[in-house]
Amino acid sequence: MKLAKSLQEIQPSYIREILSAACAPGVISLAGGLPDAKTFPLALMAKSLIDLPNQPQLFQYGNTAGYTPLLEHFSNYYQLPASHSSIICTGSQQGLDLIARSFINPGDSIVMEAPSYLGAIQVFGLAQANIESISQRADGPDLEELESCFATKDITLFYAVPDFHNPTGVCWSIDVRKKVAQLCQQYNVAFIEDVPYRELRFKGEFLPLVSSFCPENSLVLRSFSKIATPGIRLGLVTGRSDWIAPLNKVKQAADLHSSIPMQAVLLNLLQHDGFEQHLEVLRGLYSERYKALLDNIALKLPASCEVNEVNGGMFIWLSLPDCDVNALAQTALEHGVAVVPSSVFYQERENVKPALRLNFTNANIDELSEAIDRLAKVIEIHCK
Ligand SMILES: Cc1ncc(COP(=O)(O)O)c(C=O)c1O
Repeated sequence: MKLAKSLQEIQPSYIREILSAACAPGVISLAGGLPDAKTFPLALMAKSLIDLPNQPQLFQYGNTAGYTPLLEHFSNYYQLPASHSSIICTGSQQGLDLIARSFINPGDSIVMEAPSYLGAIQVFGLAQANIESISQRADGPDLEELESCFATKDITLFYAVPDFHNPTGVCWSIDVRKKVAQLCQQYNVAFIEDVPYRELRFKGEFLPLVSSFCPENSLVLRSFSKIATPGIRLGLVTGRSDWIAPLNKVKQAADLHSSIPMQAVLLNLLQHDGFEQHLEVLRGLYSERYKALLDNIALKLPASCEVNEVNGGMFIWLSLPDCDVNALAQTALEHGVAVVPSSVFYQERENVKPALRLNFTNANIDELSEAIDRLAKVIEIHCK
């Protein structure tokens, strides 16, 4: 069969492709966006998992929008106004896909920061959207570029990850949040706020969602992969009900609904007395690993390798002197350390800045130290 046109130009995810190589014995992976499996709150989930066989009704077909008690929990927890609703998705990745399929026609223009989340580049690419890239600064998108883009082009939506961005770890300042919300309202651009790392803040003050400044102009995507486990594949989209309704329609055609037994398990987890403590432990561990990674970089890599300091999330962005980052990542793998080259996170190849995305949540402190020893050798070979 001939491939659909929409698929012909889509690159397979570099990260998913190298994941098996990154898991080979002896390789330390800083490549994936993996939480540490040892932190999975399985003990908190054990009772509800054991109870599942006593609840056959959970194994029946269910509502497309999700398991009603979980939807009610979200409605209360996130204090959704009466005019808003939610849909539970098979990971927030599916939420993104449902949004693209509901609101984008081939050729429509959408805005993303550059660099940006690879999974979103894939989704919007499959939807055949025309992606406008806006440069990212230390405190969020370049606002002048953003306004000029909104003012001169017909933009359907702006997709962004304001809390501990993937891949750079950047967290938008409060002023940028307010300004972006105002611009989205002024130019009638929908703001798609993807916040899978929001709860992983280990430093600095909590900041309001961008959507809290433009609630009628936005959709929020949440994920339970980083704070519970990725394997349960559960995410959430919230926003005004007339924007959630089309997502329901697309999801009916996509997979009818997400796993109801897993939604029941998630509800019990979120309501468990020990859940807050679990998040505290997670933040403490990731903060320690982040500091260890930073110290190792300062000690072992040349001063020309620069890191953006982060206050949370799972990644740092290591800027390198001019070099071929794809070749460097390949050599790194041969030297037993998996990293992701910056090129995979850019829509437009000509604007790629030489950098690596490094994950600090999966490897332990000794592994992080060894990984940077290995990376130092590779950088010496490639960045003269
Ligand atoms: C920014 C961003 N959005 C969405 C996702 C997908 O998350 P989920 O596992 O909920 O599908 C990821 C996963 O790494 C991500 O980094």
